[in-house]
Amino acid sequence: MNLYIPENSPFLTTDTRKSRWAIPYTFECLNARIDILLGKNEGVVRGKTILDVGSHMGTFAYAAHRMGAGFVHGIDTEANMIEKGLKLFKQEDVPLSGYRLETADVFEFLESAAENSFDTVFCFGMLYYTAEPYRLLKLMRRVARETVLLDTFTAGYAAVQGKDAAVVFPNIKDETLELPLMIVSLTQPEKKDYRIPESFDYRGKDLSMITLPTEALFEIWFQSLDLPFTLLDWSDHTTRPCTFRDLATPAQKKESHWADVYASGIRVAYRLSTAN
Ligand SMILES: C[S@@+](CC[C@H](N)C(=O)[O-])C[C@H]1O[C@@H](n2cnc3c(N)ncnc32)[C@H](O)[C@@H]1O
Repeated sequence: MNLYIPENSPFLTTDTRKSRWAIPYTFECLNARIDILLGKNEGVVRGKTILDVGSHMGTFAYAAHRMGAGFVHGIDTEANMIEKGLKLFKQEDVPLSGYRLETADVFEFLESAAENSFDTVFCFGMLYYTAEPYRLLKLMRRVARETVLLDTFTAGYAAVQGKDAAVVFPNIKDETLELPLMIVSLTQPEKKDYRIPESFDYRGKDLSMITLPTEALFEIWFQSLDLPFTLLDWSDHTTRPCTFRDLATPAQKKESHWADVYASGIRVAYRLSTAN
């Protein structure tokens, strides 16, 4: 596998998400994810203008720059993460002509962006943080001239993580996840290094929604938006076949491999073609 982010890169050494379940920002996991999401899709990265929505401190935008992207533009609602990204891009001597990192809400940004204004849009670990995932897909389709790369959790995630997982788990059958449906789950808006922008009082607690469509629903949405799709293949990294049932308890989570979330289908990644 190619090396995209070296072990001593500040994009790894200063990341606060190293040991969390389900997607840890370790050397191995990060480089493997970059390999599947970007490396295996080199043709939609090298030489391209790229928008990274929910970029956090710009780790994937930086990886795209290292792979030869023409221009990378990261946006995130968390001003501290954008500031940190700006510091790291400067520290790593990325030419100013090659990037922009900006504090912005994805809907406001995409609504005011011109049609086809980027070649490729990255949306990694962000779609589930909006209550309107279909609207977000539609807006990304408008702004991306050629491709959207998407990496997100699916309905099975609601059975293993989040406020209501214990209630959802026993009520989901394997067949349920084959239906075109979306589960809404509740989560705390305050994460370690960012805050989900929209939250509300729910039974006396400050909570945010996460939206978790099944793969079946994603496929209907892609069809309706005229977005031919390819499901990305994680078999280079998966260590065992598993389902959401293997990832429910704290002990199962502790023993799990990071790629189990992809092997089980609770997380999926797609390459979507917008050039039609
Ligand atoms: C789980 S992190 C993923 C970060 C990065 N894309 C990655 O894969 O490492 C989600 C990011 O989305 C940002 N975010 C959430 N809602 C957003 C919105 N409406 N507009 C822009 N960014 C948002 C958060 O601030 C956070 O940095």
